[in-house]
Order: sequence, then C-alpha cells, then structure tokens
Amino acid sequence: MKPYDLIIRNGLVASASEMGHWDIAVKDGKVAALGTALPDAAIEIDATGKIVLPGGVDAHCHLDEPTGGPARMADDFRSGTLSAAFGGTTTVIPFARQMKGAGLAEAVEDYHRRADGKAYIDYAFHMIITDPSKAVLGEELPRLIDAGYSSFKIYMTYDDLKLNDRQILEVLDTARQEQALVMVHAENADCIDFLTERLEARGLTGPKFHAAARPPLVEREAVHRAVAYSELVGQPILIVHVSGAEASAQIAGFKARGLPVFAETCPQYLFLTKDDLDLRHFDGAKHICSPPPRTSADQQEIWNGLRNGLFSVFSSDHAPFSFDSAEGKKVAGENAPFRKVPNGIPGLETRLPLLFSEGVGKNRIDLCRFVKLTSTNPAKIYGLFPRKGALAVGSDADITIWDPDRQVTIRNDLLHHNVDYTPYEGRTVTGWPETVISRGEIVIVKSQIAAEAGRGHFLPCARFEHWKDLRA
Ligand code: URP
Ligand code: ZN
Ligand code: ZN
Repeated sequence: MKPYDLIIRNGLVASASEMGHWDIAVKDGKVAALGTALPDAAIEIDATGKIVLPGGVDAHCHLDEPTGGPARMADDFRSGTLSAAFGGTTTVIPFARQMKGAGLAEAVEDYHRRADGKAYIDYAFHMIITDPSKAVLGEELPRLIDAGYSSFKIYMTYDDLKLNDRQILEVLDTARQEQALVMVHAENADCIDFLTERLEARGLTGPKFHAAARPPLVEREAVHRAVAYSELVGQPILIVHVSGAEASAQIAGFKARGLPVFAETCPQYLFLTKDDLDLRHFDGAKHICSPPPRTSADQQEIWNGLRNGLFSVFSSDHAPFSFDSAEGKKVAGENAPFRKVPNGIPGLETRLPLLFSEGVGKNRIDLCRFVKLTSTNPAKIYGLFPRKGALAVGSDADITIWDPDRQVTIRNDLLHHNVDYTPYEGRTVTGWPETVISRGEIVIVKSQIAAEAGRGHFLPCARFEHWKDLRA
C-alpha cells in the first residue's frame, strides 16, 4: 500500500511568501507532505517545467443570482464552477441576495437549493443585504454569521439594492458586534441618477454613455463616505471592484492613516477601458459593468496597487449576462438605453490566465503576489484559511498546475461558461492552467473535465477576527 494517494513532483511551487522546487504529496484530500525524495504514491504527476500553485479563490462572482426582473444570469453553479475550474480556480464565493421586503435566511436557503448537487468545486456564500430591518440585523444576521456566512455586500447604488447612509451605519455596526466583514459597492446613486437624466434628456443613451453617467468622482465620493462610516463605527471595511486612480487614491490615503480598509480589483480594470463601451451597433453593451472601465492611466494605477499592496484581493466579478439574449444584455430591446442594460461582464475562467500572463509574465507582479492576491488573501479575508488558499500540510489539496509557456488566444468557444461572449476575445495570453485538483481529486486534466458536477462542497466561513494579521 502506497503511503500517499497522489504526488506532484519536480514543479516550481509557490505560496504567498516563498517559492522553490518541492514535491507535494496528497492523502485523503489533504496536503500530506512537502519536500524532496518523498515515497511513491498511487498517482504520480511529473510537473517538470510547470508551476504548482494553490488553487484560485474567486471571492467575487455572481452565479444564478436572482435579478428581481426579467434578466437572468447565464451561469448557474454547474456552468459557473466548471468554467472557474478550467481557469484554475478551486473555490468560488458568489452571493445569496436578499430581496427587499424578504428575509435574509430565506435568501440563503434559496441559494443553497440553487447550488445543491451542481458544483464542480467548493463554494462559500457571501450575502447581499438589501433590507436591513431590525429583525434582519438583530436576529437573522447574527444567526447566519454563526452558521458560516460571515461576509456581506451592500450597495450604495442600484434602486433595488442600495442602502441609505443610516442603513450603512447600522450594517457596519452589526458587523462590528458580530465580527463579520462588510463589502461595499461604492458609487453615489444620486449622482448617477442626476447624470443619467441629463444624458437622456440630450438623447445620449448608447452604451458608451454608461461611463459618462458613472465618472470616477462618483466612485471616489462613495469610497470616501463608506470608509468614513467604517471609521465612525470602528469597523474594517472592504471596497469591491475598485476601478481606477481616484478611488485608489482615496483608499491609499485612508490606509496611510492606519485605517483597516481592504480593497479588491478585477480584470476589467486592467484590460478594458471606457473606449470598449464605444463599439459599433450595440456591442459596447458587452462591456457595461459598474463601476465602468476607465482609462489607460487608470489601468496603470490599478497595476501599481496590485504591486504595492493597496489591493488585497483580485476577483473576477463574473456577472454573466449573454449579449444576444432577451434575458441578457438585450432584455430591454436591441438598442436599449444604457440605463436598462444589465450590468456585469463574464470573467471567471479568464481571471487567472490574464493576471498570470500580463502580471507575472511581464514582471509587473511576482509569483508570490499572484498567489496572495488570487488565493491566499481571499481565503484569509473570508474565513477559509488555511483550509483554502495554502499548500500547507493539512490544507485541502486544492492545487493548480500551470504550463507557464502555453500560449492561448482567448476565444469564447474555448471557454466553459454559458455566456455568448468574452470581453477578451482574440487576446493572446502566455500561461494556462493545465491540471486542476480539488481536495485531492483531479478535476481538469489536459483541458478535459475529469470529475462530476455535484462533488463541490459548501464551505462555512469563519468570523472576520484575524484582520490585524492581514494588514502587512
Ligand atoms: O456591473 C457589475 N459589477 N455587476 C455585477 C454586480 C456588482 O455590482 O458587482
Ligand atoms: Zn458591485
Ligand atoms: Zn459583483
């Protein structure tokens, strides 16, 4: 009987803090040993010339999330987690959305029904709080946090999602009492309404005006307000999908004062600009997301923030609405005004290859920072570490083996999501995940799926207690 189930030999292994040539042995779904000259295993993988990393943790993606209207997300837990796995991700954290007037626990129950039996990889849930009534904050939320739902997103924009300032303060205060983490979508709703109406009055309703209705100031002001409220309450905060220089500068200023502010950014702010909303016909609608992509100077600031630690997390914000679909981008018609186009773009499968190729491959970030941003930090921040986000003895054996030399020209046909486009069509990247292992089971090998849907487990998340360790 061989002592290990699986061994990966001869690869360059990297964690968030070090890299070297070690073999990794797996037993019963866990990392059992790291070292050299380890004894034989039932399955041996030769990773000579390859890079061996903890599987990605995508801590911001939307799967089968009810929209409250006729639009429908194209990916459910089956297609979404399949696509994530092909892109080197082994854990996803999508959102259980509370509907206004309804409870939070029922949103979580409903979301479990949507996920049950479908996922290829493990998953946890954030919640979206849209109606922080006394019952929700006083009773439901503490119970849910206790049960492993320890992070929730709140919105400062979108009529059916946004909270007012008093509600934001109450949510932050509950998070403080219960040791949970509030993630904020920071854009000023009134400014957006004001600008949108002015644009509409002038007939300026094409996709490119989405960016004009949500300029950097709108995000900058909301970031400032959200972080100021977190300071008032004395509670850390995480700003999601930071898009450019102005919001980054706000966050840098607060961090310089020692405030516990965490920030996330996403591929669309590195690889798209607002010009991508200005395409022929209605094609710019493919790139309508909020906040919108900015300028190439903003992209440089986002790279700086990834390099210098301003950003703790790099997520996809995969929000899958098909383009040529009456349930997707065309839900309000072929040439609907930007106000009526569902916001969001797909990116689960391309998140890691894009950052690997343009970040690690072009020496903008090193391999350790890549691991930190895409796996270790999200696992730590959302209470999944060291089970996820690490290749340490005892951690789940969630491992992605990369071929650092493989060149891939991204085409939607190659991807496994259920969306009819990718914003990155035709872009060539170098480096692609070759083998993906989840809890010791090979899920992807040689670009083929090797596991069954439904094998993914739900992961309860620990409370947000250890954030002081995360600030370095
Ligand atoms: O446009 C976006 N980002 N859509 C997804 C929902 C969100 O706000 O993250
Ligand atoms: Zn958002
Ligand atoms: Zn999102």
